[in-house]
Amino acid sequence: MMEKHDKTGLIGGTGFEDLAHVLVDETRRVDTVYGEPSSPLRVARWRVTDGDSHTDCPVVFLSRHGFDHRIPPHRVNYRANLSALKSAGCQRVVGIYAVGGIHEKMQAPGHVVIPDQIIDYTSGRIASYWDDDTQAALHVDFTDPYTPSLSKQLVIAAKELEKETGYEISSSGVYAAVNGPRLESAAEIRRIARDGGDIVGMTGMPEAALARELALDFAALCVVVNPAAGLSDGLITFEMIESALKIGRQRVYDILGAFFAKTT
Ligand code: HPA
Repeated sequence: MMEKHDKTGLIGGTGFEDLAHVLVDETRRVDTVYGEPSSPLRVARWRVTDGDSHTDCPVVFLSRHGFDHRIPPHRVNYRANLSALKSAGCQRVVGIYAVGGIHEKMQAPGHVVIPDQIIDYTSGRIASYWDDDTQAALHVDFTDPYTPSLSKQLVIAAKELEKETGYEISSSGVYAAVNGPRLESAAEIRRIARDGGDIVGMTGMPEAALARELALDFAALCVVVNPAAGLSDGLITFEMIESALKIGRQRVYDILGAFFAKTT
């Protein structure tokens, strides 16, 4: 039996500006000492049905780029977002990300990766809650950037679906966080691959580090929306990303449904 939880925060990225599958009780505009989060919070329930009965799992959804996708990755107020979710009572948070695939097994459109490591290539972002000289500096442990027990619960849910549906997932991988908003050059991707990066995205950091500073349980669910630069014959197009999201979106909903069924 897995641990039961009260409220789960969900941060939706590109393609997940709002969530189907949640019953919204309230859309709550909030402010934090770090400023406004990217979107109002959807205080909601994820309904898990089992035959004729159902269980409603409390979730708080936040749209990382805003409901209308107007905030680019380097301008997201990551501190406000996580602080708002924590204040709303979330002790665990799952971040959902659209990423480029680098590892040969992680390039198929719609492939889902639950990463276990991060390399941070971002710069110029406020990456800590300890950002002024009024407090002693805090150095949080980041050996495992995602909370292993939470990632494992997602993996178990995903593996169950793998058996049922046949769609394969990657239960580990290295998320390379880049600044964007432009995509990478082919040489940059070759370098990230040499460094050990398996997938590449623009919003994984400082989100994970800030979650750790707030002592939140935090894990990532990534959907591959394109082979990274230089790894396919053509250019990376909007159409390619959209069609991958169509596949990936359903998988993410299925995985989260199985996850909530087990852990709430
Ligand atoms: N690179 C960086 N971020 C991304 C990509 C990519 O190829 N695809 C989706 N987000």
